Amino acid sequence: MDKLANDIFDILELGGRIFKNREVLRYSYIPDTLPHREREIQNIARILITSLAGHTPSNIMIYGMTGTGKTVVSKLLMKALQEKSEMINNSIQKIFFDLDSEFLGDIISNAFSALFNVVDFDEMYGKELANILHKPVKCVYINCQQMDTQYRVMTQIANRLAPFNEDDRLPVSGLPIDEVHSRVLDKFDSSNSLILIILDEIDRLVYKSGDDILYTLTRINEELQRSKVSIIGISNNLNFLDYLDSRVRSSLGAEELVFDPYNANQLRDILDHRSEEAFYSEAIDHEVISHCAAIAAQENGDARKALDLLRVSAELAERDHSPRLSEMYVKQAQKKIETDRVSQVVRTLPLQTKLVLYSILQQKISGRMKTTTKEVVETYSFYASKLDLTVLGRRQVVNLMNELDKLGLIQTKVISFGRHGRTTVVEANVPGADIINNLHNGLLSKLKGIKPRMLYSTTF
Ligand SMILES: Nc1ncnc2c1ncn2[C@@H]1O[C@H](COP(=O)(O)OP(=O)(O)OP(=O)(O)O)[C@@H](O)[C@H]1O
Ligand SMILES: [Mg+2]
Repeated sequence: MDKLANDIFDILELGGRIFKNREVLRYSYIPDTLPHREREIQNIARILITSLAGHTPSNIMIYGMTGTGKTVVSKLLMKALQEKSEMINNSIQKIFFDLDSEFLGDIISNAFSALFNVVDFDEMYGKELANILHKPVKCVYINCQQMDTQYRVMTQIANRLAPFNEDDRLPVSGLPIDEVHSRVLDKFDSSNSLILIILDEIDRLVYKSGDDILYTLTRINEELQRSKVSIIGISNNLNFLDYLDSRVRSSLGAEELVFDPYNANQLRDILDHRSEEAFYSEAIDHEVISHCAAIAAQENGDARKALDLLRVSAELAERDHSPRLSEMYVKQAQKKIETDRVSQVVRTLPLQTKLVLYSILQQKISGRMKTTTKEVVETYSFYASKLDLTVLGRRQVVNLMNELDKLGLIQTKVISFGRHGRTTVVEANVPGADIINNLHNGLLSKLKGIKPRMLYSTTF
């Protein structure tokens, strides 16, 4: 067996010594408890609970920076509310079906038959009645990042409301918007329920398709007969409502909540909690968790970053066949996460911009931490001609450098030399060798091994 096969079978044989349950650290996992969000959960639950008594809860806007638990809290509440509603509904139905006295059963059945003007009071009417006594709560979660037109959002909400058969589903495109509106209204009403719609990343929706849809949704209760709609909007942007029509603003922002970033202690508790389920207890030190929490606390108190750091550290330790997750792996994980993040940004750059970055990085790896616009332009021109590309002029290269600066990949600074004039100093903010390797694996593979001439004498 060769080394690769050996390594793979070693891991399988050991079953890994770090992870007890990998799923627990994935984004899709919703834990049963969310430390340090108890107050927020209580506040939202207090508003939503009216839905269980048949009232329409006020619309809610949730704000907070990235990784503060907005999505996970909403999903947890949505799950709990729906379960509770189903429980109440089932209990009511059970009361009707469980009437074991035939006599009493007949009286009740006859009374309901008369009341509802039906010939036989049977199971179906039992269900109807339960729905009258307790209107079911149905929740629909939409991530507006993925679904960003009025048409798509409306049809998705309607299609997800009930397990309609395929023929009954609204098409994802092709109908005039008026037709969509009336068919959506029909579906909403025929679900005969209290519909809680969660619009996550709601600002994306407005940014891409205006606030018409929010106007429609916040007004829809006036047109519905049997169902009612309530909305939870989630956004990173505290000023999001300012961009909306004043009528939408007052309806959507009827209740507003802000989730604060987590501090290091809170992040440590969150990680501790997840770690108990995710790792074997002997595989992880408490200090490692505190370290990951402290790093993430410095980066805006983002729980996603803290969890990512812990997960990647554990993956690296496991790949190394290490029985313990030590601090060393946290350092490696930090570097890996940063390189992956930058690589992802670099991958999406246009070819000419990639080449300008490449030229700056080539200087960096040859020991010049800082360079000048003039030097970048010359190196770029050298490489562009090697690739038979159109060689852009100085002004265009400077524009591309400004783009790179905006993305945080490089830093440019104007330095004045008094009467000797000014010069722009350029510095790369990203790990040179790793990114160059990535670029060599892509469109710039032809440049592998070609070093630019180092003509420069300026030192900084
Ligand atoms: N209090 C908490 N306890 C446990 N896990 C948490 C907690 N808060 C957040 N998380 C976890 O952190 C990650 C990020 O949380 P979430 O996706 O809810 O953030 P968000 O506020 O919606 O961020 P964004 O604005 O970027 O969408 C998720 O994996 C989530 O499970
Ligand atoms: Mg979110």
